[in-house]
Amino acid sequence: MLDDLALARAVTPVFEAPGRARGLANLCYVDPAYHRLEAERLLARDWLCVGTGADIPARGDTMAVDAAGQPVLLVRDHDSIVRAFHNVCRHRGSILVEGSRSGPAIVCPYHSWSYALDGRLVRTPEVGGHGLHDCASVDKDALGLLPVRVSLWLDFVFVNLSGDAPPLETVVAPMAARWSDYATDRLVHAAADTYELRANWKLAVENYLECYHLPWVHPALNGYSPLAEHEYRVFADRFFGPVTHSYRASAPPETALPEFPGLPAARRLEGEYPIAFPNLLLGIQRDHLFGIIVDPLAVDRTRERLHIYTVDDGTERPAAERARIAAAVAGLAAGWREVFTEDIGIVERLQRGRASSTFDGGRLTAFHDGCTQRFMQLVARAVAPTAAPGA
Ligand code: FES
Ligand SMILES: [Fe+2]
Repeated sequence: MLDDLALARAVTPVFEAPGRARGLANLCYVDPAYHRLEAERLLARDWLCVGTGADIPARGDTMAVDAAGQPVLLVRDHDSIVRAFHNVCRHRGSILVEGSRSGPAIVCPYHSWSYALDGRLVRTPEVGGHGLHDCASVDKDALGLLPVRVSLWLDFVFVNLSGDAPPLETVVAPMAARWSDYATDRLVHAAADTYELRANWKLAVENYLECYHLPWVHPALNGYSPLAEHEYRVFADRFFGPVTHSYRASAPPETALPEFPGLPAARRLEGEYPIAFPNLLLGIQRDHLFGIIVDPLAVDRTRERLHIYTVDDGTERPAAERARIAAAVAGLAAGWREVFTEDIGIVERLQRGRASSTFDGGRLTAFHDGCTQRFMQLVARAVAPTAAPGA
């Protein structure tokens, strides 16, 4: 059992001054009790990214997701509104949907109770005996699916299980304002990919938040977007990460993609890679946006879901040009796949390193690990509020 003292000791070193701070203790990456606490105190109370609108594009589409260890169902209803419900039947508690499904109703596989896309319980076959589809003890009006608070930004779907986080719109406002130069209403879903990591989810995030490793882990990327062209930015309380000033500075014309219309010239070589705390890793460039949804599956297991969006700039193009762009998009997706798979082995090494009792959280460097430290501080404030300075 994890006591408060052990928890405080595990997280306080991240509040030291930059250059003196150590990282979170090993237990934050390996201990199942800590993992449950983190789900309860951080992931269930915050806005957690669990999917995209593109995952459920049509009315009646549903997709099962895990949110802080709890089964949740995303639904696109008859009015094309994205809703979320606890993915559990009100009768005997069966999981309703596994994976992705589509249909006019959500039907439980156990006894076929059916729910409308707005969550109302509409059918309870044979519930009162042979041929009796209603009964006094089953009040359909009181047994609809339990809703989960849900909100979208860009195309990303966020849920807040506790129901009391500040409105998502308020939370993302500073980043949305910073990106107001980008016509994000022109983004279209272009590609998706999934990666499995034998590592804690925080290590995947922490690795994303520094580019110190570029020359050694991503030599090809470092060739066209060198470490020296990067720096770190804090855009807002919950949005921070690396930026580059040489995005595709010398890209060949055949790989060019439609760009955000009206983007100021000063932005053309910029790429910004902030986290949307806690679990969405974003990247925006002149011709596309991507997001990696980091799913904490277990204390030592993580899934990353990459979604790439390109720009529909409204220009009519001949077929040959459309084919060239389609090939360029495929090349872009393959390029990101190369980069993100290069990270997997390293992140898994970080996980295995945390089996060493001698590892004390290491040293967070002042220059490169500021964003990592900030991420750890946000995690620490949520899981051990009394350990944080000023608490
Ligand atoms: S558990 Fe769903 S209908 Fe019985
Ligand atoms: Fe990397």
